[in-house]
Amino acid sequence: MCGIFATINTQPVTPSLLSGLALLSYRGYDSAGIAVINQNGLVRQRAQGKLENLSLQLEQEPVDGFIGIAHTRWATHGLPTERNAHPHMTNDVAVAHNGIVENCNALRAKLEAQGYVFESETDSESIAHLITFFYQQGMGCKAALQKALDQIEGSYGLVVLFKDHPDTLFAARKGSPLIIGKGDTGYFVSSDENALSHQAQQVLHLNDGAIACIQTTHLELLDAQGLKLNVEFQTLEQQNNAASKKGFQHYMLKEIHEQPDVFRRCWRHYFDSNAGHVQLPNITPPLRNFSRLTIVACGTSYFAGLTAKYWIEQIAGVPVDLDIASEYRYRNAPVDANSAALFISQSGETADTLAAMEYAKQQGQTCIAMVNVINSTMAHEADWVLPILAGPEIGVASTKAFMAQITSLLMLALAMAKDNNRLTAKIEQDIFEALNTFDQQLKNVLACDDDIRDLAHHLVDAKSALFLGRGFATALAEEGALKLKEISYIHAEAYAAGELKHGPLALVDENMPVIMIIPPDQLYSKNLSNLREVASRGGRIILISDAKGLEESREYIVGGLALPNVHQWLQPMLYVIPLQLLAYQCALLRGNDVDQPRNLAKSVTVE
Ligand code: M6R
Repeated sequence: MCGIFATINTQPVTPSLLSGLALLSYRGYDSAGIAVINQNGLVRQRAQGKLENLSLQLEQEPVDGFIGIAHTRWATHGLPTERNAHPHMTNDVAVAHNGIVENCNALRAKLEAQGYVFESETDSESIAHLITFFYQQGMGCKAALQKALDQIEGSYGLVVLFKDHPDTLFAARKGSPLIIGKGDTGYFVSSDENALSHQAQQVLHLNDGAIACIQTTHLELLDAQGLKLNVEFQTLEQQNNAASKKGFQHYMLKEIHEQPDVFRRCWRHYFDSNAGHVQLPNITPPLRNFSRLTIVACGTSYFAGLTAKYWIEQIAGVPVDLDIASEYRYRNAPVDANSAALFISQSGETADTLAAMEYAKQQGQTCIAMVNVINSTMAHEADWVLPILAGPEIGVASTKAFMAQITSLLMLALAMAKDNNRLTAKIEQDIFEALNTFDQQLKNVLACDDDIRDLAHHLVDAKSALFLGRGFATALAEEGALKLKEISYIHAEAYAAGELKHGPLALVDENMPVIMIIPPDQLYSKNLSNLREVASRGGRIILISDAKGLEESREYIVGGLALPNVHQWLQPMLYVIPLQLLAYQCALLRGNDVDQPRNLAKSVTVE
């Protein structure tokens, strides 16, 4: 899983490659590298760690040319070292690869038997040697590339340079996205559209299985059989990539604090204030025809889907099937013709979710993408798109995108409820009034930063933590546990509070912090009973509830936060904030890299 950028240009390419990589770092930051062709032949620079290391290295030992390829890596095969960094090179070719070569062991054995010497532990290096093998047998560049691709099992987005052909940049894809951009000074290739937006005005999404042969003034596209494809560019919609920390210590903290604005922008996009109800312009007619909804996503987006399951079933009366994308794509789930499938993804590039959408499309299902990145592959491939309008999210731990997802999902639930005649004018009026004043409530909770820092001290030295909730708070418990794991590296598990007695209660002792999320709803008293069960086993309870909940539980808890009472459909937006801040404060106390935690990437583009 990685980011690729390449260009053939009338200008020196290194600055362009570095700025492209900077916008692709969300796909991995284990190492970065570039290769160019110049008077010295094929030359490259690679560096372990973040892009800044490569930039520094290039300042000290500059390389440049008019054609080049670049890569930012998230390690799949082999440690995140310089030796394993892309581009991989032989005497004749340089290759940057995104994807996985599943038959890399067999290919490597064959090539080593032919005398090819591998220098890395990666699967990708086999591609460089394989192309070289056919090239050295006298095939032309195109034929050697095509022949090598025919032997690769797995997925790839590839850019390739041939030392003796400095006038042509080659690109190919199968499974992993690749986009060609056309700008004033040349052509560009990138793993996503956004990385092209400062340098290109037009874009072309490379078809799966296609090869592109790109020269400064000419572009040829071939399908997997070598037949010529039409070249049709589209105008690139410019995205606002501007991202700064705006005075906050981390992007994550800035993004957490942006949530009141994100919330307002999002509900106003979907709610027609004049008409007094939700209006999903492009999507309402098809949804009316579906009696069931399948939601598929990964990670935080999945937990947004889990929150929505409660809303859509209760408010709209439509049954929801929820799936983790990496499971759904291989489950051969029978698809009901009367159902639609909703794919939720911040990036719109997550490989598992994309593949799940592909499966649903093949089954003839109507596919809706709910994405933040509107130029993403998922948005391109879906039948309908629901934007969440969170703005660029840089922190690897998703926060404001979750807020925007659940806000959009509530709007979707309301639209479906309206279609099903389940909303009275009074209900609509109540929710409209609640929406209108809710961003102030969010701001009030954000102002509790100091209280949450105090709560974090109860957690920071723990080996493990439990998060408990019921109803929609089960989804928030999952999201809270995920946040804590990914940035503070503390093991955490989430449970539906009612499940505790069926096993996990055995984990509870005086060393176990238990974060209980108890909003004032119909399960309130059941939750308080669960709280007492945990307290009786010595568990150190941190309670997130309202003032009454805190008052009633004071003797059983080590700390807590009282949240204001709000419209019940808006509780998930309110209750998630302390969980985000708790994870943030723990990570800070532990001295971790909050925005780019170890082993992770913002967007997971391999399975
Ligand atoms: O871009 P997506 O929403 O498809 O990403 C899905 C997950 O990879 C993502 O939510 C991940 O779990 C986050 N790092 C969680 O904070």
